[in-house]
Amino acid sequence: MTFDLKQFLAVKQKVIEQHLSDLLTAETSAPASLIAAMRYSLLAPGKRLRPALVFMAAQAAGGSDAQALPAAAAVEMIHTYSLIHDDLPAMDDDDLRRGMPTCHKKYGEALAILAGDGLLTLAFQTLAQHFPARTAAACCLALAQGAGAAGMVGGQVDDLAWERGDLPRNLDALEHIHACKTGALFRACLKLGVFAVQSERAEGTDQNLLARLDTYGRSFGLVFQITDDLIDVEGNAADAGKEVNKDAARGKLTYPSLLGVVESRRRAQELAQQALGAVAPIGDAAMPLVALMQFVLTRDR
Ligand code: IPE
Ligand code: IPE
Ligand code: MG
Ligand code: MG
Ligand code: MG
Repeated sequence: MTFDLKQFLAVKQKVIEQHLSDLLTAETSAPASLIAAMRYSLLAPGKRLRPALVFMAAQAAGGSDAQALPAAAAVEMIHTYSLIHDDLPAMDDDDLRRGMPTCHKKYGEALAILAGDGLLTLAFQTLAQHFPARTAAACCLALAQGAGAAGMVGGQVDDLAWERGDLPRNLDALEHIHACKTGALFRACLKLGVFAVQSERAEGTDQNLLARLDTYGRSFGLVFQITDDLIDVEGNAADAGKEVNKDAARGKLTYPSLLGVVESRRRAQELAQQALGAVAPIGDAAMPLVALMQFVLTRDR
């Protein structure tokens, strides 16, 4: 069977973008400037890979996109908030995101910080409001763990600490930072896809499936950040939609800076094989996950 990933992603992108737009216009009593800033960043042309992973995990769990939609929306809100804050002058100080001026360039720093806060909060509201109680609780917990102090936020702290030279320069430190700042949210995506479909079942969630997806997510997250680091070195702003050649100047700990480009690619290949091995026993239902892993290895945006 052949699988058309491009077509798959295009369909999911349309579905999630419409849903995100609907969820954000509903907040009518909020300040218009805040909603404008939140919508500006959330609806800017991102790749929507995290929602796609939620949908893929839901499919592997035997469910539909419709069941997974609140979870897919919530992870994209968290991800977008993380980008808005990542771009702030106090962090990576970037002017371009998703091919557009960054949120703080367009709306000022204060509103950009608050737009991030608004998206972070709306993510959990979306889960609580649109899922039955048990599913909502499971999804909130997994998303909080992925996004919080021991996940994405903690990884961002270590990323900046490393920039100041406060952490050791070795592969363990690097993979820990990347697993937290980028990998933890991808792992949450896969959990949420399964929880959205299976949390209300009498027999509970499929632990074997969750373990396989978690192994995939761990490797996928690292490969994603390796290729993000490679895009910074080898890519161009027009394709990437963000500034490139910035990590080395800022003294970031990245794969190419530590291992070189060739060894970074080799490590990415090795991790991708681990991810593919983990989901192979799932069979046809994991075909999109296989295709996405292969795509991420060679992406230029
Ligand atoms: C960029 O994520 C930030 C990282 C975690 C490396 P993406 O490359 O998924 O960004 P968008 O969502 O497509 O803009
Ligand atoms: C960001 O990593 C990870 C986040 C949690 C947002 P980067 O700082 O490398 O992401 P880009 O390159 O700015 O998208
Ligand atoms: Mg950063
Ligand atoms: Mg950055
Ligand atoms: Mg980067």
